[in-house]
Amino acid sequence: MKKIVLGNWKSVGDTASNVVLLTALAQHAPAAGVELGVCVPYPYLPQAKAILEGTEIGWGAQNVSPFGAGAYTGEVHAGMLAEFGCRYALVGHSERRQYFGETDELIAGKIDRLLAANVRPVVCVGETLAERESGAWREMLEGQVRALVTRLGVDKCARAWFAYEPVWAIGTGRSAEPRDIAEAHAFLRRQLVALGVPQRDLVLLYGGSVKADNAQSIFAVPGCDGVLVGAASRVVGEFAAIAAAA
Ligand code: G3H
Repeated sequence: MKKIVLGNWKSVGDTASNVVLLTALAQHAPAAGVELGVCVPYPYLPQAKAILEGTEIGWGAQNVSPFGAGAYTGEVHAGMLAEFGCRYALVGHSERRQYFGETDELIAGKIDRLLAANVRPVVCVGETLAERESGAWREMLEGQVRALVTRLGVDKCARAWFAYEPVWAIGTGRSAEPRDIAEAHAFLRRQLVALGVPQRDLVLLYGGSVKADNAQSIFAVPGCDGVLVGAASRVVGEFAAIAAAA
């Protein structure tokens, strides 16, 4: 199993700074056991494609429509992502759940559309600080994955990648400790397997304040298949350094 290193630029970037980042990244062929990719804002997909095509580095989106082509003003459907060569799309990021009211039902619909278009869904789950501190985090995580398996079935969930992203670690500079990641990952694996997803198909990433200086300890967490990197994926050299630690 390859170690996966995905960047999430979020709503950050412009053509000029992207050229610098993507060109620098394109110089860093990932090691044989590493899958490297960046999820960029929609308007920059052609730019990512132009610069990364022909390298081993993948690109993807941060969202997708839960509908197909049609009268859905403002939406970008999965077929469009496939046309622009997206390998992946993020789904259910906590920022989308929090600021855009995304529900489990909507997220399940997006996963379904992505799979039909052969774009890998990277499904984000995670608890808030209050849920972590009260001990309700297990119930929360269980509920998030159960909601998806119930709606989509085991086979579809087995084709998605999951990212454990505790909300309190996102953009705060405070990464979860390796032992917390190990515990949450082990818990999520047990839940998904109990719901019927085969252990061998499970891919589980960690996201939340991953940087070059903590990447190695996160990759060393047993059962951690890789990382989803926000802010540090927009720093020239930093993202490549994280990939080098994989
Ligand atoms: O998708 C990425 C996560 O939200 C982590 O963001 O690395 O800026 O904390 P961050």
